[in-house]
Amino acid sequence: MIWFHESLKSTQDEMKALAASGDSMHLDAVCALLQTVGRGRHGREWIALPGNLSASIHLKDTHLPLTWIPLWVGLCTARALMSGFPELSSLGGGGILLKWPNDLMIDTGAKLGGILCEKVDSGVIAGIGLNLESSPELQGRKSTSLKALFERCGVERKSVTARIVLESVLSELKREPSVDEVRTEFLRRSFYPPGREIVWKNARTGSRILGRVLGLGSHGELRVEIPGGGSQSLFSEEIEELREKPEAGSDQK
Ligand code: BTN
Repeated sequence: MIWFHESLKSTQDEMKALAASGDSMHLDAVCALLQTVGRGRHGREWIALPGNLSASIHLKDTHLPLTWIPLWVGLCTARALMSGFPELSSLGGGGILLKWPNDLMIDTGAKLGGILCEKVDSGVIAGIGLNLESSPELQGRKSTSLKALFERCGVERKSVTARIVLESVLSELKREPSVDEVRTEFLRRSFYPPGREIVWKNARTGSRILGRVLGLGSHGELRVEIPGGGSQSLFSEEIEELREKPEAGSDQK
C-alpha cells in the first residue's frame, strides 16, 4: 500500500512511525507531495521542491545483506527511470548513473536524487528523493531534474508524477537479486567506475585522501588503491564527500 500525503515534514519519519506501530508490510510506502523538513545523509537538509518525489519504503523481508540495501535501492531507482524513459540512454554514460554509495547522477556530475536508508527494528526504511520537476541549488555541487534531462535528450515533455515513478521503483524492488548481481550492475552504472581516480573526505577527521577505484567489497564498501601501494575499504558512513580527482591546477574545493 502507498500512503499519499499532501504535506509532511519527512516521509522518513512517517514511515518509521508506521513501521514501529506494526501497521505496515514489506514494500509499503509513504509519499508526500510536499516535504517540508526532508533529511539527507550525514544530517544534511534535503530540499524537496513541489512536483518532485519524496517517498520512504519499508523493506521488511529482504534477504539481501543490510549493507547492500542502499546500493540496491539506488539501482532499482535508476532501473525504474531507465525503463520508464528509455530516451535517457542518449545521455553520456548511457543514462542515469550511480555515485557510490547512493546518489543518482548524470555524466556531467549533476545530482538527480539521493537515497537515505535507515535501520529500524523491523528492517530498513529507504527514503528516495528525486528531482522530477525542478532541482534545488546545491552548495558547491551541480543538480538536475528529470524535466531538464528530457529537454537535454530532445524529448517532448512527458507528464511524470511521483506516483508513476514510485510504483515503478516498487515493482523493481520486488525482484531481489544476489549480491553479485548488485555488484556487477552497480559497477556497470557507476559514476566512478574501476580505474577512476577519486578524492574523498573522511567524515570524522576531515582529511582528504586520494585513491583509485578498484571495485566493491563483500559488504558493498568501495575498495580503493592508495598511492604508494596497498588498498583500503571506504564505508559509506565514514565518507562525507567523494569527488573525482581534480586536474592539476584546478579548484580543489
Ligand atoms: C541524500 O542524497 O543525502 C539522500 C536524500 C534522501 C531524501 C529522501 S526524500 C524522502 C525521504 N524523506 C526524507 O526526509 N529524506 C528522504
